[in-house]
Amino acid sequence: MPPIRKCLFPAAGYGTRFLPVTKAMPKEMLPIVNRPLIQYGVEEAARAGIFDMAFVTGRNQRALEDHFGSSRDLERHIAGSKRESLLDDLCRLMRECEFSYTRQLEPRGLGHAILTGETLIGDQAFAVLLADDFCVTEDAGVLAQLSALYDEHRCSVVAIEEVPKAETSSYGIVAGEELAPGLYRVSDMVEKPEPGEAPGNLAVIGRYVLTPDIFDILRSTPPGRNDEIQITDALKTQAREGKVLAWRFQGRRFDCGSVAGFMAANAFVWNN
Ligand code: UTP
Repeated sequence: MPPIRKCLFPAAGYGTRFLPVTKAMPKEMLPIVNRPLIQYGVEEAARAGIFDMAFVTGRNQRALEDHFGSSRDLERHIAGSKRESLLDDLCRLMRECEFSYTRQLEPRGLGHAILTGETLIGDQAFAVLLADDFCVTEDAGVLAQLSALYDEHRCSVVAIEEVPKAETSSYGIVAGEELAPGLYRVSDMVEKPEPGEAPGNLAVIGRYVLTPDIFDILRSTPPGRNDEIQITDALKTQAREGKVLAWRFQGRRFDCGSVAGFMAANAFVWNN
C-alpha cells in the first residue's frame, strides 16, 4: 500500500461559536496573527509529505479558494518592496501542492463532510485535518506522527489528547488497550458523552488517517448525535474489527473553534 498522498480539509461547518465573523467567511480563514488557520493546516500536511490538498467547502467558500489561488496583480504590486517576503511561504505552498475543491451542500456533520470528499480522494488511505484545531509540535507535526504510524500499522489512526473529565461532552471519546506508551488499540468510541457516560477522558482531536473502507461505512451510518452523520460512529465500526489506533500526540493543541482557544493561540504565536 502506498503512503498517504492526500489530505482532506472539511471546512463546511457553520462556525456558530464565532458569529458574526463566520456569517460570510469560513472559520478556517480566521487568522493566527497574520496567517489563516487553513494555511497552517496545509503547511502541516506538506511537512508530512502530503501535497494533494482536497477541500470540502460550504456556502462561503470563496475566501478559501482565493487564498490558494493566483493573485498576479497583488504580487506585481508588492514586487521589489519589503512586503514581498510576506507572501513567500504561501507562494511556495502554491507551487508545491495541488488543490481541489468539492462542496457540501448543507452541513450534515463531519462524517457527511468526509463522505462528500470521496470524489476527491478515491480508493486510498488519506489524512483528514480540521484546521480549527491548531496544533504546535516540536517535530514535523501531528499528521507526520499519524502518517508514520499508518506506514507501520496500515489501519486508521486518530490523534487523541487527555481532556478534563468535565469536558468529555465536547469530544469523541475513545477507550482501548495501551499497546505502547501513548498508542492505543481502540475498542470503543462515543460521540460527546456526558462525563458520567464517558468511557474515559481520551478525546479525539482534528487529525486522522482513514482507510478508504470508511466511505462505505459512512454511507450506511445513520445520523447520530445532533442528527448529524458522525465520523465517530463510522470509526466505531472499524474499531470493532480492531482496525483503529489512537495516538496521544506529542505537542499542544488550541481549540480555535472557540473564541478562548483562538485568543490563546494568537497570544502563543505572537509571544513565541
Ligand atoms: P464543528 O464541530 O466545530 O462545527 O466542526 P462547526 O459548525 O464548524 O462550528 P460550531 O460548533 O457551529 O461553532 C468541526 C469541523 O468539521 C467541519 C467544520 O468546518 C470544522 O472544520 N464540518 C462540520 C464540516 O465540514 N461539515 C459539517 O457538516 C460539520
